[in-house]
Amino acid sequence: MRHFLRDDDLTPAEQAEVLDLAAALKADPYGVKSLAGPKTVAIIFDKATLRTQASFAAGVAELGGYPMIVDGNLAQIGTRESIADVARVLGRQASVIVWRTADQSRIDEMAAYAGVPVVNALTDQFHPCQTLADLLTIREHLGATTGLTMAFLGDAASNMSHSYLLSGAAAGMHVRVSGPDGYEPDPAILAKAQQVAAGTGGSASFVAEAKQAAEGADVLITDTWVSMGKEQEKADRAEVFQPWQLGADLMALGAPHAIAMHCLPAYRGKEITAEVLDGPRSVVWDEAENRRHVQKAILTWLLR
Ligand code: NVA
Repeated sequence: MRHFLRDDDLTPAEQAEVLDLAAALKADPYGVKSLAGPKTVAIIFDKATLRTQASFAAGVAELGGYPMIVDGNLAQIGTRESIADVARVLGRQASVIVWRTADQSRIDEMAAYAGVPVVNALTDQFHPCQTLADLLTIREHLGATTGLTMAFLGDAASNMSHSYLLSGAAAGMHVRVSGPDGYEPDPAILAKAQQVAAGTGGSASFVAEAKQAAEGADVLITDTWVSMGKEQEKADRAEVFQPWQLGADLMALGAPHAIAMHCLPAYRGKEITAEVLDGPRSVVWDEAENRRHVQKAILTWLLR
C-alpha cells in the first residue's frame, strides 16, 4: 500500500511520472475516471482550508468520485476516539483518506491503520500536494525544473520549507531555504534533501542571508510568516522576518526571467509586497489551480 505522507514518499522518477500525469489530466480534465463508481475520498480538515478543500472536491468530482468532506472539529480525531480507530472506520467507507492535521505522527498513524492510501493535505512538517503543484507550475513557466534554482524566503523551519527541500531536490533543482536565526529547517530533513539531490544533480542548502539566497534564483518563493498553529507568535515574527519580505528588491536579485511564487493565503505588506504578488512575475493563481491537477494525478497514481 502506497501513501503520500511526505514529499520523499515519491522517488524522483515517480515524482516525474505523477507530474506528467498531472499535465495530461490538465489537458484533458474529464479523460480519466479513476474514481468511477463513484468511489469515495474522505477529505478531513483539522485546520483552516480554502484551496485544499476546493481543489480536492473539484478534482475528485472530475475523476468520477465522491468527495466526503469531514469536519475535524466534529470528528475530534484522537480525542473522541483514537486515530487508529478512526482510520479503521474511514478505511471501510472510503477508497482514499486525505487529511490536513497538525503533527506528522498523526497522519503516520492514520496510514498505519487505514488499509487504504492516505494523502497529506498539510501537516506541521510538510505540504507535499502544494509543492507538486508548484513543480508543475515551474515546468509550465520555465520549461523544466532540472538545474534551476529555487529560493524559499521566510520561515525555513516551516512545512513549506521542508517540502520544497525534499521535492525540489527530487526534481533536480538547487534549493536554497533562508530565514532568520532560530527558523532553520529540521537538520534531518535538510540532510535527506541533500541525499536525494546527490542522485538528481540538484542541491539543498540553508542560506542565512535573504539576499544571498535570492541571488540569481530562477524561482523566488515565500509563505506566511505565521503558519497555522503559530498564531501566538505573530507579533514577534513580524519583526524578525522583515528582511525576508519578498519585494521588488529581492526579485531584482533573481534571474531576469525569475518568477514569484506563494502557496497562499498571502498577507500583502508582510511576507510579500502587493507589487510582487499582483505583479507580472507572480504565478500564484496558476499554483492554486494546479493543486487540482496534481492531486487528481496523485489519487489516480496511488490507486493504480
Ligand atoms: N505554512 C502555511 C501554509 C498554508 C497553506 C501554514 O501551515 O499555515
